Amino acid sequence: MGSPAVNLLFLYADWWLPLYGSRCSVSAILALARESCVQRPGFELCSRGRRHAGSHSQTRVRFPVHADLSPSLRTEFCDEPAQSRPGAHTRSDLLLSGRDWNTLIVGKLSHWIQADSEVKTIRKNSEAALVQELNFAAYLGLPAFMIPLRQENNANLARILLNHIHTGHHSSMFWISVPLMAAEDVRDDIIENEPINRKDDGSEDERTWQWWHSFRTLCDYNKRICLAIEIGADLPSEAVIDKWLGEPIKAAILPTSIFLTNKKGFPVLSKLHQRIIFRLFKLDAQFIFTGSNRHSDKEFRSYLQYLQYLNENRPAPNSYEVFAKGYEDYLQSPLQPLMDNLESQTYEVFEKDPIKYSQYQQAVYRCLLDRVPDEQKDTNTQVLMVLGAGRGPLVNASLRAAKQAERRIRVYAVEKNPNAVITLENWRFEEWGDQVTVVSCDMREWSAPEKADIIVSELLGSFGDNELSPECLDGAQHFLKADGVSIPCDYTSYLAPISSSKLYNEVRMCREKDRDPEAQFEMPYVVRLHNFHQLAEPQACFTFRHPNPVIDNNRYCSLRFNVQCNTVLHGFAGYFETNLYKDVTLSIRPQTHSPGMFSWFPILFPLKQPVLLARESEVCVRFWRCNNGKKVWYEWAVTEPVCSAIHNPAGRSYTIGL
Ligand SMILES: C[S@@+](CC[C@H](N)C(=O)[O-])C[C@H]1O[C@@H](n2cnc3c(N)ncnc32)[C@H](O)[C@@H]1O
Repeated sequence: MGSPAVNLLFLYADWWLPLYGSRCSVSAILALARESCVQRPGFELCSRGRRHAGSHSQTRVRFPVHADLSPSLRTEFCDEPAQSRPGAHTRSDLLLSGRDWNTLIVGKLSHWIQADSEVKTIRKNSEAALVQELNFAAYLGLPAFMIPLRQENNANLARILLNHIHTGHHSSMFWISVPLMAAEDVRDDIIENEPINRKDDGSEDERTWQWWHSFRTLCDYNKRICLAIEIGADLPSEAVIDKWLGEPIKAAILPTSIFLTNKKGFPVLSKLHQRIIFRLFKLDAQFIFTGSNRHSDKEFRSYLQYLQYLNENRPAPNSYEVFAKGYEDYLQSPLQPLMDNLESQTYEVFEKDPIKYSQYQQAVYRCLLDRVPDEQKDTNTQVLMVLGAGRGPLVNASLRAAKQAERRIRVYAVEKNPNAVITLENWRFEEWGDQVTVVSCDMREWSAPEKADIIVSELLGSFGDNELSPECLDGAQHFLKADGVSIPCDYTSYLAPISSSKLYNEVRMCREKDRDPEAQFEMPYVVRLHNFHQLAEPQACFTFRHPNPVIDNNRYCSLRFNVQCNTVLHGFAGYFETNLYKDVTLSIRPQTHSPGMFSWFPILFPLKQPVLLARESEVCVRFWRCNNGKKVWYEWAVTEPVCSAIHNPAGRSYTIGL
């Protein structure tokens, strides 16, 4: 064994959570640990720091990490005399208090352990040591334990870990550390004229992702198994990095060797590396520094300070990101405003959107100017009906538009939620007066006293038609004049294939006792997609127009997507776009997203079984919108490259009530 290089790891960041733990105890432990590093080979040191959101205070070192089983005490479990060697195999747990162990410390598997070695004795010894280290970590109550993957076959390691998870009474997370590039694929290893063992599909920069994917599949996507990516000097292609960032990354390992030196001698990262770091900040990853200090005239802390500097100078979150903070990857059941009556707070959230109502105002304004020439502005009163008025924001937007256009309007505010009608009545009494008539009624059953020039509605869900706007407006269009206008005039849903083990697991956990065990995969979820990888651009799925000449809202659509990397498909992200009037639009499709609008998060249609996709494969998905007069539902299936089951047949797991 070589001389003991002090491998100083800093598990750093997790920027948004407050510090806890006493600083002086931590420094004392750090000092002790540093001393141990020098005195005891194989003792590694690692610490974590956290920063308050928005705080510019200096990052504080927080947690020293752990002694793993020292390589110097490598145990031969099978053979004598080591098998019965007396004495402790590692340092005492009295080194730290229980609270420190289970809040501050991350364990790390001894590097010599090779549970999948072809050599039987090594494998046997490794298995025994692995179990011993896992058990010791559980005994200490460590919150996380880091295990490296170094090769393609890790089946034995996976089996032992899974057994440990299923039999032990502990709640540790397991951070699987995987290099972004395999050692054999990085530039240093490519020797001129020496044949390189590469696949001819150009996928060598995906090799280690395949190790990880096989490992987590063997572990049945266990939620406690996540990733610590090792970022080397050589990086895979942008597309492959995108793929990694869709994985459940908890930590990123940064060797000091990847740092460059700036003019003043401080460590800095290349632009490419910085871009990854910025994206890791968004995933709340923790950072781990490894290796010796390569900027010897600076303190080791300068690596940490550089990351802090990057964090302080990262692009500020936009208003959508600020609004969505805390909702990332959180699954919600889509609203059913037709069947259920929305709550006051739900309307309140809608009304905070800074964009939606100004776009509606613009649409009504443009429509009024088109319908009423200047010379008729004092004689022509347009009948405008807000269908599904809620607490009145679209009535207000329409009144503002009329004022702006200097046109006259007479307004009907139709709402079927009797609770929201109380708010509308109050508005009428206090503000609107006789210009607005409040109608407490389902628009499909209303006998309107006159026909409308313009109907204004917002009955759209994240997938456009999923709150049954088509059925509601079809039921109301008989009181729209022959030349009348509907705002919106059309809307289209979009679908994109995605990979996200995080979301797959979130859906899996929605299993309920008295339901089919897979019902949770047969329903859509509204979710702020965050830790995911979009595998191809979204494509249009269903379109609805109003007024609707042929009333048939059943739909069928088949979409093909070309996926350019080796990956795994977990479901489809759904979005919508709508034309309110002419070129006044609202959109949540990423490419055309209305800036700053946060009324809708995307929708997710999951798949029961992940589908493995080879690079350049075609995914064919089929979507159906079905209606039996009482309910509407979607069914979906993948038919290429392999067939999935048809999800939600006959609406058995999910329907939307008419
Ligand atoms: C998504 S909310 C929009 C509310 C409001 N326009 C806004 O922007 O805040 C849809 C509203 O339409 C109402 N609604 C849905 N279907 C309706 C129907 N068939 N007749 C009348 N109101 C309906 C719901 O009760 C709800 O208040």
